[in-house]
Amino acid sequence: MEKQIVLLPGDGIGQEVIESAKKVLESVTERFHHTFTYHTHDIGGAAIDKHGTPLPDDTVRACQQSDAVLLGAVGGPKWDQNPSHLRPEKGLLGIRKQLGLFANLRPIKGFDQLLHASPLKHEVVAGSDLLIVRELTGGLYFGTPSERRQNGKEVVDTLHYKREEIERIVDNAFQSARLRRKHLTSVDKANVLESSKVWREVVEEKKADYPDVEVEHLLVDAAAMKLITNPKQFDVIVTENMFGDILSDEASVLTGSLGMLPSASLREDGVGLYEPVHGSAPDIAGKGVANPLAMILSTALMLRHSFGLDQEAAVIEEAVQQVLEDGYCTGDLDVKGGKVVGTKEMTRLVLERVTEQDATHSIMTC
Ligand code: NAD
Ligand code: IPM
Ligand code: MN
Repeated sequence: MEKQIVLLPGDGIGQEVIESAKKVLESVTERFHHTFTYHTHDIGGAAIDKHGTPLPDDTVRACQQSDAVLLGAVGGPKWDQNPSHLRPEKGLLGIRKQLGLFANLRPIKGFDQLLHASPLKHEVVAGSDLLIVRELTGGLYFGTPSERRQNGKEVVDTLHYKREEIERIVDNAFQSARLRRKHLTSVDKANVLESSKVWREVVEEKKADYPDVEVEHLLVDAAAMKLITNPKQFDVIVTENMFGDILSDEASVLTGSLGMLPSASLREDGVGLYEPVHGSAPDIAGKGVANPLAMILSTALMLRHSFGLDQEAAVIEEAVQQVLEDGYCTGDLDVKGGKVVGTKEMTRLVLERVTEQDATHSIMTC
């Protein structure tokens, strides 16, 4: 198989982990005789510094013409005081919007070897396996641009959804639920927000099309609590953009670290973008200690979702599992007695196993 892959390293540890992703992909494609060509483009703070904009047209064009996009992370203190249109994050939001990537899948499954790396009790975390389906191109992030009025004494952000935007993400989540344990939790704030009331109506309407899926509604505050007190009650969670952002960072605690969570940003047809859930981690950037596994696991999601290469994806996931089983971890993972290694060494350990692994089943189901 021949594919064109755009790499968007971005900023901070994004630049470090994208290297790991490329190396792992090179080794998988060599083993399975595929030809992937890589094209690196600027986004975020790096693009502001070089081109004066967080999302150059050339980057958008390259992504549109590619078969899939891998993104590291954007942002950092250097650009934190910039006006909104010159913030690295605008580049990320822009590429999601321009590619129409409305469905962000964030699978959260603790690897057995990391159960003790979570600050939560072993019996709470063991066996949890959930998927957050986050709406990614609407809501507060994309309302009327935040406005400051009356010399900054008043401020406005708007939360806007078209009904069809809610319908398509809810359909997507029902379909994901069908491929898993057929349980869908819709998370909203329908006791307060008008948009959430419509969200709940849509889920209720769509239920009829998916009679095999059990549906539950939860208010977001209660969902935040249940996610870490009884995570096993969840299979698929569907929620709007900002709720999904917050709940997924919270859910990363189940896995031992934010550095373990991959994600896929998708639309019905067309190019997909794959990125770790974490950010550019300015506190550890440049130190060579970032956990590359979220980024590496995102490449497995790319192989499976964009190219249907299930076996190749499974090889990567099993290689990661094997490294953890062999007792290796990065500094963000609090594994007792673990052999702590840096980004490059962790990548090498995964590579070693990618070439040997004889994998058949997928680990991150979504
Ligand atoms: P962050 O996710 O960058 O970091 C939060 C904490 O988790 C930090 O202590 C960090 O060291 C740790 N961490 C994150 N990923 C790690 C990894 N792979 N290995 C080891 N430790 C890891 O969140 P933040 O500090 O709130 O944000 C920093 C910048 O990143 C901000 O500019 C923010 O806007 C941006 N951000 C970007 C993305 C993205 O590009 N997708 C996502 C989240 C945040
Ligand atoms: C994420 C990030 C982004 C988001 C930021 C950097 C704009 O937190 O991908 O989770 O909020 O979507
Ligand atoms: Mn986030």
